[in-house]
Amino acid sequence: MKLLELRGITKRFAHTVALDNVDFDLLKGEVHALLGENGAGKTTLVSIISGVYQPDSGQILLEGKPVTLKSPRDAYRRGIVLVPQHPALPESLTVYEALALFLDKSPSRKLKTFIEERLRKFGIEVDLDKRISLLTPYEKVKVEIAKALVADAKIYIFDEATSLLGHGDRELLYKIIRTLCAEGRGVIYITHRIDEVFNIADRVTVLRKGRKVLTRRINEVTREELLEAMFGKKLEEYAGPRSASTHGEGLAVENLTVQDDYGRLAVRNVTLSVKYGEIVTILAAPGAGHREFLEAIVGLRKPVSGRVKVNGIDVTGRDPSFIRRMGVAYIPDDRLGLGVAPGLAVKWNLVMRDLDKFTTKVGTFHKFLNDALVKVLEKVGLAPDVLPVPCAELSGGQIQRIITARELFLREVKVIVALNPFYGLDYETTSLLRKTLIDLRNSGCAILVATEDIEEAVKLGDRILVMREGKILKEFSGSTVSARELAKVLTL
Ligand SMILES: Nc1ncnc2c1ncn2[C@@H]1O[C@H](COP(=O)(O)OP(=O)(O)OP(=O)(O)O)[C@@H](O)[C@H]1O
Ligand SMILES: [Mg+2]
Repeated sequence: MKLLELRGITKRFAHTVALDNVDFDLLKGEVHALLGENGAGKTTLVSIISGVYQPDSGQILLEGKPVTLKSPRDAYRRGIVLVPQHPALPESLTVYEALALFLDKSPSRKLKTFIEERLRKFGIEVDLDKRISLLTPYEKVKVEIAKALVADAKIYIFDEATSLLGHGDRELLYKIIRTLCAEGRGVIYITHRIDEVFNIADRVTVLRKGRKVLTRRINEVTREELLEAMFGKKLEEYAGPRSASTHGEGLAVENLTVQDDYGRLAVRNVTLSVKYGEIVTILAAPGAGHREFLEAIVGLRKPVSGRVKVNGIDVTGRDPSFIRRMGVAYIPDDRLGLGVAPGLAVKWNLVMRDLDKFTTKVGTFHKFLNDALVKVLEKVGLAPDVLPVPCAELSGGQIQRIITARELFLREVKVIVALNPFYGLDYETTSLLRKTLIDLRNSGCAILVATEDIEEAVKLGDRILVMREGKILKEFSGSTVSARELAKVLTL
């Protein structure tokens, strides 16, 4: 039986036709995956299904009956819940209060017990008494998942829920999804990880530039066909050679100890160095301390003890703008928090960190600015017409490209520090960013990337360090280690 059917859905925004006459359906007990490059219209489609946006034209049917979904609350009452691409939780509440608010119930002992039991059933661990404002982006994703699961819905939608989750959490989510389907519910699953689709989906639909290009049963389609449907061309995956030559220490960290937001030790006495001409990847499960480690390096967090040196100069405890001026770039994974000012146009987001460089003495922009920005956008695969668009109106992957462009191409960088830089990028852009980082390494940059993605850690790292509980557990050479070997160490 069809739980959901969309007929001829069209949605226009000021600058784009996000969906053009799209048909889509979801059966009882199935996982229907939604694929497509950054900006293809995936989030817009599930926003319409979950009542966030109204379509300009087209019909929505729930269990055969035409409906209008007036708001997310309306969709929720009809049994549709969404785990959004970017967590949107009330920052001043505790996790428990936020869940109660979502369920439209006043907090009570009974409700808390109900929530605890529900989460235990699915094996989701979240601290109900923590304040949302203190959660990391990873923890917020988990709370969004918990929020969806406490609801007794018919349709569960996951918009890139696994892009910030580690290996273990992903396996747990697959198990949860199988349980939901066995209970006769339906799941819409958005991801950029194609292997995931083959792992859990029953059917797959590909969107390209707002149009539906393919819907197939998963056993009737190949990985290559999906890639071609998504990008409209055959893709070669970029796999660059390992580092040829290194010189001098770009970044040196000595005995660094760092606390997390709760005053617990997140990083314990870590020492490492990254040479110019070298990429070091730190592979870690979420919460292993790599976030705090990188934040302490770039000045966003004061270390308890230890030293950080950039190009031989001690920068321990200095503020982020000082460290930035030393030629250090930082790519965070907290897109809408640390990454961009969502309400401002792309142009402002690109220049805001280096205004002095782009303005004349009397405060007007240099004439060369627009040309420079157009060139920079081209390097991350974006057209110049995004310059006046506020970042809030871009897709998740497009925002990640703006951050990358600003941090890597608008000034001279010598040391690059990146946290989950591939998060939310589509297959082609992931390959492009990998190439970019390798080119920058070859031109002499020292690069430190922390990632929860085993494949990316192996493809990129000249050396790979595995971090657990705030310590470096093991070091591997990128040219000899395999993804399988690393997965073992990570899950030991
Ligand atoms: N609120 C909005 N206002 C204006 N334009 C928007 C808005 N939301 C999305 N768009 C535009 O619609 C298009 C589709 O965006 P959407 O977020 O649906 O893409 P996506 O497939 O989810 O991409 P990603 O993989 O990067 O998340 C993009 O060109 C985007 O700029
Ligand atoms: Mg999206």
